Amino acid sequence: MDIKSTYKEKVCSIEEVLSKIRSGNTIATSVIPMTPQTFFSNLHRVSEKVRGVQVFTILNPAAYDFFSKKEYEGRFINNCWFYGAGDRAAVANGFNTVTYVPNNAHQAISDLVSSREIDFFAGSASPMDEHGYLTLSCSAFIEKDLIKAAKKVILEVNPNAPRTFGDSTIHIGQVDHIIEVDHNLPEETIIAPTEVEERIGEYIAELIEDGSTIQMGIGGVPYAVSKLLHSKRDLGVHTEMLTEAMLELYESGVITNKRKTLYPEKFVCAFVFGTQKLYNFVNNNPSVFVMSGSFTNDPFILGQNSKMVSINAALMIDLTGQVCSEAIGTRHYSGTGGQLDTHRGAVRSALKGLGGKGIIALRSTAKKGEVSKIVPTLPQGSPVTVPRQDLDYVVTEFGIAHLRGKTAAERARAMIEISHPDHRKTLEEEARKIGLLF
Ligand code: COA
Repeated sequence: MDIKSTYKEKVCSIEEVLSKIRSGNTIATSVIPMTPQTFFSNLHRVSEKVRGVQVFTILNPAAYDFFSKKEYEGRFINNCWFYGAGDRAAVANGFNTVTYVPNNAHQAISDLVSSREIDFFAGSASPMDEHGYLTLSCSAFIEKDLIKAAKKVILEVNPNAPRTFGDSTIHIGQVDHIIEVDHNLPEETIIAPTEVEERIGEYIAELIEDGSTIQMGIGGVPYAVSKLLHSKRDLGVHTEMLTEAMLELYESGVITNKRKTLYPEKFVCAFVFGTQKLYNFVNNNPSVFVMSGSFTNDPFILGQNSKMVSINAALMIDLTGQVCSEAIGTRHYSGTGGQLDTHRGAVRSALKGLGGKGIIALRSTAKKGEVSKIVPTLPQGSPVTVPRQDLDYVVTEFGIAHLRGKTAAERARAMIEISHPDHRKTLEEEARKIGLLF
């Protein structure tokens, strides 16, 4: 059979796909830009006939009915690797439809596959070419490994999905069911950095040398940093998430990827998330490699980059350097994602003499200054995202603390110095009470 007929045979309606779902099935899905939106918007329609369908998701772009309505408790569980606003809202409403899956991004899929069978992978792709290849478009992060593991592969093929290079191709022979869709990809809302974020960005810019390869995490602070890198030369990108900010730095000549030691001349990423401008940039662009997160986020791979700098944000850090970036006490907020992976990779680049730096950046306070984000001890129930034994640099709007190799007392002093002046006295008193300072 020719390749076009093979493709046509696999095209089916959403109803046909839904008819295949059974109680207890495990369905794993794509990352935010490539979320199978039609599949997710309709999944709740099979609720009458199923119980205990386990859906694995990551950073959902919308609050889909199957996990956002109390009536679907017991029918579906949204097992989430990284919470977005919709996941948080379902939990806050007290619905028993969402739970977090602790993970390091680079090993999330091997962990999953070692614990259960995957019945379906549901994702999205750009259209097939004359050789029978589709691309996973803006994300090979978890998709590439899930496709290998799943018994059946469902793809929404979207003409608006950019065609990408790297390790994002998939042959039609690997696909079981195709739903043809035509909608825009979800877009990131870009918010201008605040003054405080800009001050943090200035300190981080001091740490970034020309020729560095950068990774930037999620949140307001990493975005602000990019605005302050305009005097840098020949930066490169090896990141989990390729962002609009990186495109701006490329357009202004700051990012050239020329001095990278691993994949020179290429942007290396696991997924792309931004606006249509970024999606247009990656379309058919051989300088962008979209690759599996089991590769991009592996600290041993990241650590091979010369001057690998990772910049991630945090919700709070204790005086000894335990970083919590994913919860406020027992209230889960987001996820570890690639934070520990990329921080460890950057530190590995330092340990190998390649000049890496792992940076965790945070505003010194939250809640309009009332709450210090630098705390004597993390609140009860807080998960540790980056352990203190891994932590390298911490940056707030009051400066830089370099903690690697420092004693607990030296760390406490350095952390108090970069905390907000209004909270320093209390932090010092608490540090003495718990025996960190004497
Ligand atoms: N105590 C209480 N509340 C706090 C707090 C603290 N110490 N720190 C922050 N908050 C609240 C904020 O007020 C805000 O509340 P709101 O949603 O009601 O406005 C919320 O928590 C989010 O804080 P904010 O600092 O605005 O978050 P952000 O959008 O800048 O993102 C992280 C920061 C840490 C949540 C985000 O970077 C993250 O999830 N990181 C983990 C994963 C990661 O870094 N991956 C990197 C690889 S891509």
